[in-house]
Amino acid sequence: MSKTRILTGITTTGTPHLGNYVGAIRPAVAASRDDNVESYYFMADYHALIKCDDPARIARSRLEIAATWLACGLDPDNVYFYRQSDIPEIPELTWLLTCVTAKGLMNRAHAYKASVDANVAAGEDPDAGITMGLYSYPILMAADILIFNAHKVPVGRDQIQHIEMARDIAARFNHLFGAGREYFVQPEALIEESVATLPGLDGRKMSKSYDNTIPLFEGGAKKLKESIARIVTDSRLPGEPKDPDSTALMPIYAAVASHAETVEFRTALLDGLGWGDAKQQLFERLERDIAPMRAQYEELIAQPARIEEILQDGAARARRIGAPFLAELREAVGLRSFRPAAEKKTAAVAAARLPQFKQYREADGKFYFKLLDADGRLLLQSEGFDSPKAAGQSIAALRATASLAGDTGGHALGPDVSAAEVERALAALAQ
Ligand code: TRP
Repeated sequence: MSKTRILTGITTTGTPHLGNYVGAIRPAVAASRDDNVESYYFMADYHALIKCDDPARIARSRLEIAATWLACGLDPDNVYFYRQSDIPEIPELTWLLTCVTAKGLMNRAHAYKASVDANVAAGEDPDAGITMGLYSYPILMAADILIFNAHKVPVGRDQIQHIEMARDIAARFNHLFGAGREYFVQPEALIEESVATLPGLDGRKMSKSYDNTIPLFEGGAKKLKESIARIVTDSRLPGEPKDPDSTALMPIYAAVASHAETVEFRTALLDGLGWGDAKQQLFERLERDIAPMRAQYEELIAQPARIEEILQDGAARARRIGAPFLAELREAVGLRSFRPAAEKKTAAVAAARLPQFKQYREADGKFYFKLLDADGRLLLQSEGFDSPKAAGQSIAALRATASLAGDTGGHALGPDVSAAEVERALAALAQ
């Protein structure tokens, strides 16, 4: 049975805070460990461009968000983890979908309508400052989801309408071009009821727009402590019974602690624990979870090239799914090759009869490739590389020169295979 595909995008404009961790990152990382799901998590950096025209902030945020997800335990080998902007099939599909999306549907999008309403209220032109990016945002989001035919899309409530629009657009495309075939599955929004939204310092929902967030890693333990000190409490003195539900301290504590710890904390407040001591306890409890992840984060952020490699690898793997699908969609709408169908078939068969490179990772953690002939016989076995990129570069060098000269390095010829045979295979590939 095929796995459930879960996909979600993270708009890369800000720096992750504790509310993002508890509400989105932690549940996503946990879900990605389920063997029955195939997870797609990506940096929605094209979406970020809609909201932000500060290149430095865009660049910084996508790096921080990638490092955060990895530091919080996302295993890039177990999921598809990539940047939207590394998948050219997404904007390409966006256009195919744009051509079947009713303008009226976009007119109804909450985010766009809110901007229009704000303009009207301010006595401005209704479209003042509204870009086509903002207007068409739901189509780009539909393409993100539909290119991988995701079944479930974990999102906040504010995004439900966008998922409904993606369903509409998918149905429209299927109807127009499917000829009986459902190219797109109908995605469903996944609203995790059990994941409470975390209150911020002032007790309202923790959100950048309220300026009430507790940073996750930014500023280190010191900043974490300072933020906790700013959580609003009443003026009851140590020894006086506290109302645990009167402040954000309690739900924030509960979001990280076990049930037993939470009950104990609650009881201590009822018994008169001072706010200062309570804040210290909250800090220590948070720090117990966050400190090891923060150390990971700092290590990662100091090596952006390594994150780049992980994301490139994720994009390459995701494109292996998205690119052939987009080719089918192009066919469906009539963007077809002029070559007669029979000839196309011969070309496809000929391609299938070529030698091929296969890349993989071994239990030793290193990256390898092998060259197989058209019948799957081993021609060349590579040495181990530290990164998929290094392995890819070695393949590229072999393909470019069609020769083993200079690059037999640690590679081994297959059993009973001569160097000449390998070079003939490389030459065949080069044609
Ligand atoms: N629009 C989403 C948000 O602001 C982010 C996003 C972009 C997304 N593409 C997506 C979420 C695809 C889910 C699926 O939160």
